[in-house]
Amino acid sequence: MSEGQKKQEAVGVEIRDLVKTFPAYDQKNKEIYAANHVTLSVKPGEMVTLLGPSGCGKTSLLRMVAGFLMPSSGEIYIGNREVSKIPPNKRNVGMMFQSYALFPHLSVYDNVAYGLKLKHMGKQEIHDRVRSILQLMQIEDYASRFPNEISGGQQQRVALARAVVTEPSVLLFDEPLSNLDAKLREYMREELRKIQKRVGITSLYVTHDQSEAMAISDKVIIMRSGTIEQTGTAMEIYARPKNQFVAGFIGKANFVQPDVIHSISGGRAEITLLGRRMMIEASEECRNGERCVVMIRPEDIRISPEGDLKARIISKAYFGQYIRHFLEIGGCEIEQMDFTQSNAALQEGDEIAVSLVTDSLRLLPADDNKEI
Ligand SMILES: Nc1ncnc2c1ncn2[C@@H]1O[C@H](COP(=O)(O)OP(=O)(O)OP(=O)(O)O)[C@@H](O)[C@H]1O
Ligand SMILES: [Mg+2]
Repeated sequence: MSEGQKKQEAVGVEIRDLVKTFPAYDQKNKEIYAANHVTLSVKPGEMVTLLGPSGCGKTSLLRMVAGFLMPSSGEIYIGNREVSKIPPNKRNVGMMFQSYALFPHLSVYDNVAYGLKLKHMGKQEIHDRVRSILQLMQIEDYASRFPNEISGGQQQRVALARAVVTEPSVLLFDEPLSNLDAKLREYMREELRKIQKRVGITSLYVTHDQSEAMAISDKVIIMRSGTIEQTGTAMEIYARPKNQFVAGFIGKANFVQPDVIHSISGGRAEITLLGRRMMIEASEECRNGERCVVMIRPEDIRISPEGDLKARIISKAYFGQYIRHFLEIGGCEIEQMDFTQSNAALQEGDEIAVSLVTDSLRLLPADDNKEI
């Protein structure tokens, strides 16, 4: 698909009140909700990532959009068309899975051409389309090689070429990079994002790797047990998580129980934390009288002689761009990231002073499934 082939008008995906239950074999009279009243939308040309722990229902949701799994109830729209009763091959959806399984007995060219042949397309058109997509993916030199004669990253691009060549309206990715080593995965996710933007295909991408989600998405959807916890840009979710689960799932965070919550109102809370009285932001879901914790991101603790809190360095580790300290502050163990490098001489056991960036702290409803 060349630049000029961006001809197809991008369409969006709408999921409305989708439910999928499976019978539970291990618990009597209880169903498993793979999707529990899920409503979401992906705008035309947008790349949206579903992020959540294992078993939260990501793959099930993709399979329902693709048509491989029937919803128990609810609606799925691709563009203006309600597709939940339409078979997979009529939905114009491309899919790229974790195990992308290229046909080993077919050349790169034939792997990519396969879907077009199924559509009974003319030989010349197939040739033109395959050539231009191989060029776009920068794998045209490998056209006549077989999958076992190219690298993992190149295979990945062949798989992507194969998913895109039929010009689907929607592309679904289910952990497509999880088979690759860390470095290649990072490189491929940038490539994937560039290609997705260039071609402009509406995409729904599943991962449980938060940095992958943050790097490639226009929008991130955090899922848990078949439900959507929060939707937003990576930045919105990172800075303003709704609750402890979301905060812990995107980025690193310390959660500290405040000494006292004096009041919560209008998105602000007055609290005493580590012996200091302060006003901080509060999630709209915090309720007076319910258990709440304060989110402290590791970069929001500053080591400085003027700091008003005493801390002791429990351990330190060097990571290149930053030094990570585990600090003991007021009886709590808190992870701190120091990007300044000006405290490189500090040693384990040192007594230091720190301050909190109170503007970035946030009161969140505690997640009682999780230890804090
Ligand atoms: N065919 C099935 N029969 C019964 N239960 C199923 C079936 N498929 C999925 N489930 C259950 O539905 C839930 C959601 O599964 P799903 O595969 O969608 O999770 P996931 O978020 O993709 O997880 P992972 O990150 O591990 O791939 C899980 O509890 C799973 O055990
Ligand atoms: Mg899955």
